[in-house]
Amino acid sequence: MGHSARDDAYSRRELLKSAVYTASGLTASGLFTPLIAEHAGAFNAPDNPPSADSTFKSMKGVPFERHTKVRFGIVGTGLRGRSVMNELLSVQGAEIVAICDPNLANASRAAKLCKDHGHKEPVIYSEGPDAFEKLVIRDDIDFVYTATPWEWHVPVMLASLSAGKHCGSECPLGTTLKDLWALVNASEKARKHCMQLENCNYGETEMLINRMVKEGIFGEVLHVEGAYLHDLRDILFEDKDEGLWRRAWHTRLNGNLYPTHGLGPITAYVNVHSGDRFDYLISMSSPQRGLDLYREKNIPDKKDPKWKEVYVTGDHNTTLMKTINGKTVLLQHDVSSPRPYTRHHRLQGTLGAFEDYPPRIYIDGQTGGERWATLETWKKQFSHPLWSEIGERAKSKGGHGGMDFIMAYRLVQTMLEGQVPDIDIYDSAIWSAPLPLSEISIARNSSPVKFPDFTRGKYK
Ligand SMILES: NC(=O)c1ccc[n+]([C@@H]2O[C@H](COP(=O)([O-])OP(=O)(O)OC[C@H]3O[C@@H](n4cnc5c(N)ncnc54)[C@H](O)[C@@H]3O)[C@@H](O)[C@H]2O)c1
Repeated sequence: MGHSARDDAYSRRELLKSAVYTASGLTASGLFTPLIAEHAGAFNAPDNPPSADSTFKSMKGVPFERHTKVRFGIVGTGLRGRSVMNELLSVQGAEIVAICDPNLANASRAAKLCKDHGHKEPVIYSEGPDAFEKLVIRDDIDFVYTATPWEWHVPVMLASLSAGKHCGSECPLGTTLKDLWALVNASEKARKHCMQLENCNYGETEMLINRMVKEGIFGEVLHVEGAYLHDLRDILFEDKDEGLWRRAWHTRLNGNLYPTHGLGPITAYVNVHSGDRFDYLISMSSPQRGLDLYREKNIPDKKDPKWKEVYVTGDHNTTLMKTINGKTVLLQHDVSSPRPYTRHHRLQGTLGAFEDYPPRIYIDGQTGGERWATLETWKKQFSHPLWSEIGERAKSKGGHGGMDFIMAYRLVQTMLEGQVPDIDIYDSAIWSAPLPLSEISIARNSSPVKFPDFTRGKYK
């Protein structure tokens, strides 16, 4: 008997239900199943794709069908969902027809946003955590966007693909190899796109550097670095928004919990999925101290249920990756140590180097001595046309310096014009893969762990 995407969606959902219900009981019990148990099966043979029968045809290079308008369903209307809605509602040709969130207060705020932008109020689905199932089967939705806690991204997207909808999620796309493969298979079977909407790929600096890389200004790119170093301690311990679910992940696994912001932009610099792919990684974590120290200082009442939680994620994770063509990539994660924000964002080529935070550039024989230069002169020649055209408007919208608006604009534009999407399921899956793979490597004393080839050989 055939195994349908719908079956996958349901069996996965049943699995997740227990995880999510445990998650909501976090402060009560403090107990979590270690996530590593879920990698079983994918563990020993991560290179072996599931049977390559005719059901699985690549989605690489497949254009969207043309749309006269793009009708969105939004699942998860917390801080991020509403922020992305704010961008989408400002893009010509985008409409939000339905929203879903068990938190009715958030859903109502989101519905008001539509009205404030002069749009029709969307239909609200708010009856429990499975209400998205009703949203995804509507026949007036072209794209389902998910901004829920991480544990719901995969069930929502599997249900969306099963209902024949294009879909996308916030970061990470998924948290286990099994889930990432399930999304690849479901997208290929449904012939619909499934993508992670990685806003950092649309940053002004990232798009400028990507152009300069493609023009050969840095020569051959040998090594790149990315990171998510963001002091989230206050947010993680709040009794609202991300504080309700994100801290739970620090009790579940030791690895890089949030790889995609750092990895998304730099994979393009080393041509991953355009001739190259990741081969293997090794990962190490520092001891966990930050959340313990924060709790000690800020939660004096030892009877507070938060004192039952055991944090297992090392504060500072460092993962080193190698591509098939020999390029090296350094990726880091730390959300529990005091420091200013950085995504690190660094590249070394045979002709020069770039480093961010603050952005600076060095080109052999051009920038003089051993001194860094600012980006200003390079911007004149290499600014991405999108940033030259709509950069000011994007910045005025505010979301993360304008990159959120450029991301929303590109998604709608590619769908209206029937273009190939900027980001496909293979990029999306590989950006999230270091989450489970770093956990596996650390559990095996930092041994090398192979990446799966989600493209099934099409990366060439
Ligand atoms: N790209 C970025 O820059 C960026 C920034 C912040 C957050 N994020 C990501 O966005 C996602 C959401 O984060 P957030 O900050 O908005 O969190 P949040 O807690 O503010 O919002 C999450 C919302 O999802 C709702 N929700 C929970 N279960 C649901 C379900 N089963 N169906 C529908 N809705 C459900 C919650 O009620 C809540 O309203 C996360 O994946 C996070 O990592 C990305």
